Amino acid sequence: MRVLVIGGGGREHALVWKINQSPKVTEVFCAPGNAGTAEIATNIPIPADQIDDLITFAQEKDIGLTVVGPEQPLVMGIVDRFQEKGLRVFGPTARAAELEGSKAFSKDIMKKYGLPTADYETFTSYEEARKYLAKETGPIVVKASGLAAGKGVILCRNAEEGRNAVDTIMKDKSFGDAGDKVVIEEFLQGQEVSVLAFTDGKSVLLLDSAQDHKAALDGDLGPNTGGMGAFSPAPIFTDALRQMVCDSIMLPLVRAMETEGRPYRGILYAGLMLTEQGPKTLEFNARFGDPETQPLLVRMASDIVPLFEACIDETLDQCELQWKPETSVCVVMAAKGYPGSYAKGKEISGLQEAGALPDVVVFHAGTQMKDGKVATNGGRVLGVTATGSDTPTAIAKAYSAVAKIKWDGIHYRKDIGARDQPN
Ligand code: AMP
Ligand code: GLY
Repeated sequence: MRVLVIGGGGREHALVWKINQSPKVTEVFCAPGNAGTAEIATNIPIPADQIDDLITFAQEKDIGLTVVGPEQPLVMGIVDRFQEKGLRVFGPTARAAELEGSKAFSKDIMKKYGLPTADYETFTSYEEARKYLAKETGPIVVKASGLAAGKGVILCRNAEEGRNAVDTIMKDKSFGDAGDKVVIEEFLQGQEVSVLAFTDGKSVLLLDSAQDHKAALDGDLGPNTGGMGAFSPAPIFTDALRQMVCDSIMLPLVRAMETEGRPYRGILYAGLMLTEQGPKTLEFNARFGDPETQPLLVRMASDIVPLFEACIDETLDQCELQWKPETSVCVVMAAKGYPGSYAKGKEISGLQEAGALPDVVVFHAGTQMKDGKVATNGGRVLGVTATGSDTPTAIAKAYSAVAKIKWDGIHYRKDIGARDQPN
């Protein structure tokens, strides 16, 4: 079978890498891909949001399965469009992906069905949002409701910062239309964990846990990013917590979406805060996490392709998921300046040496071929991923690979995985 992966980040390189290992697969394409996917698959120069062109390509090439990486095409309805043409595609429909596309919708579903989440209010009026903040004293979180590439969430220490955040989102329109609606919510304390599950709309199959490092700088300082690194599993996420999250969050949500007439098939990603009152959902995403997918997929022992197919065919209850016992760590190497502005087109050296180290896979994110050489082409450039018998071993292997890679203007965190270590 021929498989098409849509997207061009680190997550998609990891998906292509994993799908390539399936005996069911003869050829893998990636649209648009990056310099890393070009080494192991055929890149197709069609952007992830050009749905008509992607459909034409899938029809012409007789693609048997399309896997959608990013949220944007999902929210635009790529799955609905592929399905209308009789093409097999993995991911939620537009109405189901609204769970990620609208934070207001997602919070309302959680409230309606009693799923644990932070208390909140939603506003479409700037004046009402400002008025509401007048009553608040402590820390608060202000979120643009729409898609903002992981940047539309502002953590505020007090009402003053909250008012500034409302100005940024609703008045200055820093996140465009995503800020037409804001969600203002209670500030939760605790450790975060990313829980991903396959679902066919009826049953759920949880992946192992992962933890992401969202802040740009060591010690969780600096602005939030798409993710500066991740590790798997997260020891804080015990079997008991896993069962609790499955029974009190993932399954009820899948049932709720069915009841709402928006059956959800694909990957369901819950960003959880482990609070003193138990796990609470910060957000749902309609896709694999990036960079969580990189450390997760190097540990996944099962063939991933039958799982994609089972979600489409509603036979997930017959599937199992096996994991390697090793732990894994992914260090994101970013361009200096990210998540703000940064340079592109810088030549990267040392990729071969890094990738040749045992138990290391260098996943590309923002890379491109320039004059026959690999060069930077985005904020997050590489996800250097290593496995080890324990986390310190995996960390050491990942950073020894990182040390071999050079370009002009590198930034990466030095403490990825350290949260897993005793103080
Ligand atoms: P979200 O995109 O909603 O997951 O938010 C991005 C990040 O902001 C999360 O990963 C958390 O680190 C932080 N965050 C979001 N909501 C809250 C909250 N209610 N309390 C504390 N931190 C939050
Ligand atoms: N790493 C966070 C996300 O994929 O949304």
